Amino acid sequence: MAAIAFLAILIAIIIFLKNRNLNKRTQELNTVNNLLIIENENHEKTVQNLQEELNKLTQIKTVSEIAASISHEVRNPLTVTRGFTQLLKDGSLSDEQRNQYIKLSLEELDRAERIICDYLNFAKPSIENKEVLHLNNEIEYIVQVINPYATMNSIAVEVNIEDCQYTILGEKQKLHQSLLNIVKNGIEAIEKKGNIIIQLKQCNGKAQLIITDNGKGMSDEQIKNIGTPYFSTKDKGTGLGTMVAFNIIKEMQGEYNIESQIGKGTTFFITFPLVEENSNIKV
Ligand SMILES: Nc1ncnc2c1ncn2[C@@H]1O[C@H](COP(=O)(O)OP(=O)(O)OP(=O)(O)O)[C@@H](O)[C@H]1O
Ligand SMILES: [Mg+2]
Repeated sequence: MAAIAFLAILIAIIIFLKNRNLNKRTQELNTVNNLLIIENENHEKTVQNLQEELNKLTQIKTVSEIAASISHEVRNPLTVTRGFTQLLKDGSLSDEQRNQYIKLSLEELDRAERIICDYLNFAKPSIENKEVLHLNNEIEYIVQVINPYATMNSIAVEVNIEDCQYTILGEKQKLHQSLLNIVKNGIEAIEKKGNIIIQLKQCNGKAQLIITDNGKGMSDEQIKNIGTPYFSTKDKGTGLGTMVAFNIIKEMQGEYNIESQIGKGTTFFITFPLVEENSNIKV
């Protein structure tokens, strides 16, 4: 009997000791686990911080690169204008020469202004006054504005809007600027007579805007470069128009795609998410 009692006590002591070891081990494991969790959190934070730093640096780099190029770009028209203004001092100039110098100076000043405006629009981080826009009305407005320029270049602008409500979210002025840049490029790509066709339809629950010109078209290399700062094949082009246009489309959660064939023309496919008419959002 005593032996059984002794055995029972012994077993109890062994179990107790094992349990104590087990508890200790569990405690140790918990501590390690906690340390790993903290380590993991720190790691995630570090990765997040690094990502944020990288984003900031990329932004600063882009903006400062552009700022450097801007000052270079603006200096050219200013130098030219300065030269013409000096020439104007010459009393023996004919009226024709004088008018020509004034015309060129004004053109160059306009160019400088355009570079600065495009830059300011690019540097602004986001669209600030989003509202519900009726894309149909905005396209009608754009056609009105661009028509004199098109007619002057013997180009007809055709509009084809599928009967539907196209309510999207964006900032009116910026949308105008974006689409005008794209349509203006289309007009400039047409060497003699031609036409621009603007279509608006619904596609996969989105508003799809298709702008087609029958101009000179682009090579694959040009399509790759379009939208990058200062890429231009024009004598007086700034190469900022499409960069600004694409930036605005992206800010509006839109997407764009380009199809082009040398000698045949170019088509821009632009889609915007549709929103409810009464979204009434003012961001
Ligand atoms: N519809 C188009 N057809 C053919 N080429 C185009 C078309 N749109 C753009 N491009 C090409 O892309 C280039 C860049 O266009 P972007 O609007 O950025 O600058 P730009 O038109 O040259 O200058 P700016 O807009 O200051 O007048 C153009 O120079 C042209 O070579
Ligand atoms: Mg342009």
